[in-house]
Order: sequence, then C-alpha cells, then structure tokens
Amino acid sequence: MQTTLPGERMDNAPLIKELDFAPFRMRVSTERYHSREFHEREREKLWMRVWQVAGRAEDIPEAGDWMEYRIFDQSFVLVRGRAGEIRGFVNACRHRGNAFCEGKGHAARFTCPYHNWSYGLDGQLLAVAKPDFDGTTEEFVGDKDKLGLIRVPVEVFGGFIFLNPDRHATPLSEFLGEAAEFLGAYKCEEMVAHGLNVKETIECNWKVVMDAFQEGYHVQGVHPELVAAMDESMERYGFFGDHSIATAPFGAAHDAGVAVEIEGIRNLPATFPAVADALPRFEEFLGEHRNGEGDYAFPEGTTPRLLLQQALRETWTEKGLDVSGLTQNQLTDNQFYLLFPNFFITIHAGEGTFISSVPHPDGDPNRCIWHVVNYQWFPPGERAANKTELVEIAEDDHFPYFLALEQDYEQMEHQQRGLRQGMLQEMALTRQEVRLAHFHAAVDSWTEA
Ligand code: FES
Ligand SMILES: [Fe+2]
Repeated sequence: MQTTLPGERMDNAPLIKELDFAPFRMRVSTERYHSREFHEREREKLWMRVWQVAGRAEDIPEAGDWMEYRIFDQSFVLVRGRAGEIRGFVNACRHRGNAFCEGKGHAARFTCPYHNWSYGLDGQLLAVAKPDFDGTTEEFVGDKDKLGLIRVPVEVFGGFIFLNPDRHATPLSEFLGEAAEFLGAYKCEEMVAHGLNVKETIECNWKVVMDAFQEGYHVQGVHPELVAAMDESMERYGFFGDHSIATAPFGAAHDAGVAVEIEGIRNLPATFPAVADALPRFEEFLGEHRNGEGDYAFPEGTTPRLLLQQALRETWTEKGLDVSGLTQNQLTDNQFYLLFPNFFITIHAGEGTFISSVPHPDGDPNRCIWHVVNYQWFPPGERAANKTELVEIAEDDHFPYFLALEQDYEQMEHQQRGLRQGMLQEMALTRQEVRLAHFHAAVDSWTEA
C-alpha cells in the first residue's frame, strides 16, 4: 500500500472557516449569463480553446465505432481506430466541406455521401470516387497525403473523452494538473452509466447549471429534505488551477448519536445503490460491538462511519475494484469535482453522479443542454449488461428525474429569468459559494485573455 495518497491533501484541505477569502471576488457580473456579445466571446476564447468532455470511451468500444460531438455550430467526429486509440476529426470533408457524419455509428472507413471520397479511421484520404478520365487520381486531387481529415486533440481520462478544438492545445494532463490525480484514484474508467443517462434542454445559461452544483447553500431553500444530511461547516475546499474540489464528510459532524448514524448508513442505498453490497459486512462488524442488551460499545476511535469504511474497502476489493489509491474518507464521503469548464462529478468509492452543460447549439445564451449520468463500478464482465444508454429528451418533453435533480432543474430556469433582468448587474456570493467565485474568475481569465 502506498504511504501517501493524493486524497490526503483533500482530507486536510481548509474548512470554510479556515479559508482565506482575500483572493476571491465575491461579486459576479450577471451580463455573462444572457449577453450575446459575452456568449460570442465565450465561444471564441473559451470553448474553441479549452479541453472539454465530449463523450465516454465505452460508447465507442470497437474499432470503427464513431460518434459526433457538437459545440456551438462546430462539429467533430470521435472514432476508435484499429489499435484501440480514439481520435478526433473536424466533421468536414476535405473535398467541398460536407459534414459527413451525424449522430453515431460504426464504419470500416468514412465515406462522404456527397461525392464519395473516403477516409480511413486514422483520417487518411483513401480513395476518390470517379477519378479523372485517364484513370489517375493523383493530379485530380493534388497531394492526396495532404487531404486527410483535419485532426483535433483528443485524450481520454477516467474513461471520459476530452476534446480540444484548438489544434495547439497543451496536453490534457497539463490542463487537469493535480485534480486528475485525485479523481484518477476512483477508477472512473471502470464505471458505466447506470440507471440515469439523460440529455435535455434547460432554459438557462450553461453556467447556471455549473454554478448550481458548486455550492450546498441552496439545499435549505431547494432541497429541504436533504438538510439533515449536510453539514456545511465540515466541508473542505481545494483549488487547483481552474478546477476545484469540495468534500463533505458523511455522518461525521452530526452529534445525533450512534443509533441515528447507523440508521443513516442503513438508508444509504436509497441514494447510493452501490453501498448496498457492503452493508452485510458492515452489520457483521457492528455486531462485534454489540453487548447483550443490544447497545453498542465501541473502543476509542471506532465509529459506525469507520466500520462502514472498512466494510466498503473489503467489499470493493473482493469484487475487484482497486481502492488502494483512496483514503478512508474517499470511500464514504462525497467529493465534488469541478473540472473547468463544464465537468462536474460528485463521487465516492464505486459510484458517482456526473453533470455537464453545454451552450445550446441554437446560439441562444439563455439556453443550454445538460447531461446527467449516474456512473457505477461493475466487474468487467458485468459492465455491458448494466450500461444505461443515453436518452435524449425532445424539446417539448421532460424527463422525470429523482426529486433533488427535479428541484434543481426547475430552480435553474427561475434563476435565469431573474438574471436576464437588465437592472440587475451583479450577484453577491456568500462564503459557502466561494467555488463560484473561483469558477467565474476562471471564466473571466479565459474570456479576457
Ligand atoms: S464534399 Fe465530400 S466528397 Fe465532395
Ligand atoms: Fe441542488
């Protein structure tokens, strides 16, 4: 076992009362949520230059599997090559520019349906249909080697395919920096979408979505039923480049007593299904500390929380998930990752909920498309059977989310209506919303660069 784990830094990250607020600007302009001019600047300076999540590797598992990724009016094709590597190309034929792909599919080669030029999975121009009349293709197309599909940087991290529309982008690892070390330990690449995988339009700017998942402050107003499960005074905050992480301990801060804590643990699978498999072992451990009257007597330092962590570590390890890179806290506690600009995941050992939003392709800054997914770890042989395919909701339809997500969905549209009011110039953030200050400073630094 390693002696130091990346997660230890988050275990010791500052609590809100220990944070230095001096570097954060707690007023944020509202123009960024609705102005077309700002939206256009964001398109040019942020989205056309930043690493962004474009899909999942398991969605194109076989050589020749491909899918389209769109951002604003730009379209790219992600394709798995013969050696398993994933590449990205501009979705435009080198002949006369036809967008040759739409949606997803499988092909041994790409053939542009306009005049049937065809390209290999590596983007090389393979053949030109109906060559010139003397039978030589060479003069006809000029230098064939130079007419391959235009490549864009694509890299995979944690099973997520990241794409950067900027051909001169620095490597993804450099952009993600330390945040990738923390998140890497969870083995997201071994998880699959399970139970929830939905894309739907929301009538709000894409940043309203990203904001909503970077603070627990709205719980009292929007999710009153969750209040008992949260203790913001115990949240810890880490800032890493443009990215940030918060962590909220499970069951540590509530002094409601052992019985309540144990009951809370028994109820966890209702929200976090993957915990269920560890509960029999947890009960076993618990039994060792029960006396004849049915009361619990724990030795110094032992808590139900610790027993759950031990049960999770053993159960996951037996199933085949390598949790040796995770600290005890990471087994139970939710950690909230924001990888700038639009990758959010709340995660603990074995499962996570991913939320992302992109500007709506119609160009209206007041709309976006969000993508919500529950990911869960399964042994290799069970992944395909447990995978939930993407559901894309039509514009006039609505997906029935679980309660908290439904509440968020509605709330975000209300917020956008207010943010559009011309006389409101700024938002005033509270200390618990410090991650928003960090996020918007990053938005500013990209859009002003
Ligand atoms: S535009 Fe693709 S073959 Fe002509
Ligand atoms: Fe929420």
